[in-house]
Amino acid sequence: MRKFFSLLVALVLTAMCVDAKAPLKPIKSGEKWLDNTGVHVNAHGGGVLFHKGTYYWFGENKSDHTSAALVGVMCYSSKNLTDWTQEGVALKVENDPKSDIVRGCTIERPKVIYNKKTKKFVMWFHLELKGRGYAAARAAVAVADKPEGPYKFLGSGRVNPGVVPMNMDAAAKAEMEALNPDDYKDWWTPKWYKAIEKGLFVKRDLQGGQMSRDMTLYVDDNGKAYHIYSSEDNLTLHIAELSDDYLSHNGRYVRFAPAGHNEAPAIFKRNGKYWMICSGCTGWDPNEARMFSADNIYGPWTKHPSPCVGPNAKLTFGGQSTYILPVQGKKDAFIFMADIWRPRHPSDARYIWLPIDFKADGTPVVEWRDSWTLDYFDKKK
Ligand code: GAL
Repeated sequence: MRKFFSLLVALVLTAMCVDAKAPLKPIKSGEKWLDNTGVHVNAHGGGVLFHKGTYYWFGENKSDHTSAALVGVMCYSSKNLTDWTQEGVALKVENDPKSDIVRGCTIERPKVIYNKKTKKFVMWFHLELKGRGYAAARAAVAVADKPEGPYKFLGSGRVNPGVVPMNMDAAAKAEMEALNPDDYKDWWTPKWYKAIEKGLFVKRDLQGGQMSRDMTLYVDDNGKAYHIYSSEDNLTLHIAELSDDYLSHNGRYVRFAPAGHNEAPAIFKRNGKYWMICSGCTGWDPNEARMFSADNIYGPWTKHPSPCVGPNAKLTFGGQSTYILPVQGKKDAFIFMADIWRPRHPSDARYIWLPIDFKADGTPVVEWRDSWTLDYFDKKK
């Protein structure tokens, strides 16, 4: 019996050793990434939540011929960021034609955060109502008891109806109120841009709430959570604080880079500084990434050149930002996540995951790598 036991221990130890020495799997941006069932990961415009030793990747399930939501939001789990287990549909589209999330609606850029106080997992996403193109521009929220779901849909709407942004003082508010929409019927003129900067569309949407399209979520060190989204017809980003339970907005929000036409926001914090990487607005086509930094999440935000370096850097390597993933247990280890959209075969859209480097002054750099492994972050030091 003792002999058998020591043999068993030896076997387990060998297995552990072998595992520890197993070469790390490479991350190859732009290739097909197969899950545990051998199918390309279907989690586009996604984000990653780390909870109790496991990473959960949430994203849009796209079908072969349409980007409309026919399934819902997918969840995949992994301990090492390279082997992904399909956890199924975290939030399912509904059959009821009266539901906001009826099959055929548009669900984009879902992100999940964990609320330590309520112990709930909270998902926000960009929702467009079925058959209405991109006109609804709503933020939608769902909640679950377990990271992988199932998520219960709670509702959708525009953001902070009736509330003026915090970074508009009395004078700016008066200036906005004085704007007469009839004077700005010609779009894209310098005069119109000036009016947008002053809040022409904030005023237009004040009563019904601000538009919310491309979005991300961010939980700060103090537990406060923020919803960051393209608003005002994608012309201006807003940063809005969520309520303590993360299920609604609490009325505190700022506008940022007004009339800058920024989409696809992704954010991280390093050494007390917030960094935001976003894209311009060219639909499914790639464009040059934009970058901003701030010492306070509410700004002021400073614009920087694109962080991208290497082949096709001018077009963000053919991708569009979606999330910045802090790698657990490693200092200054962040992964820039982007989507290479394939509008003619949406489910075959590919992923870009690249490590973020930092210049001596702290400015992030994202360099293209055909293939890299997670020990890149250890080797750097
Ligand atoms: C992109 C946006 C995507 C999707 C697409 C539709 O600019 O980032 O999330 O909305 O437009 O054309």
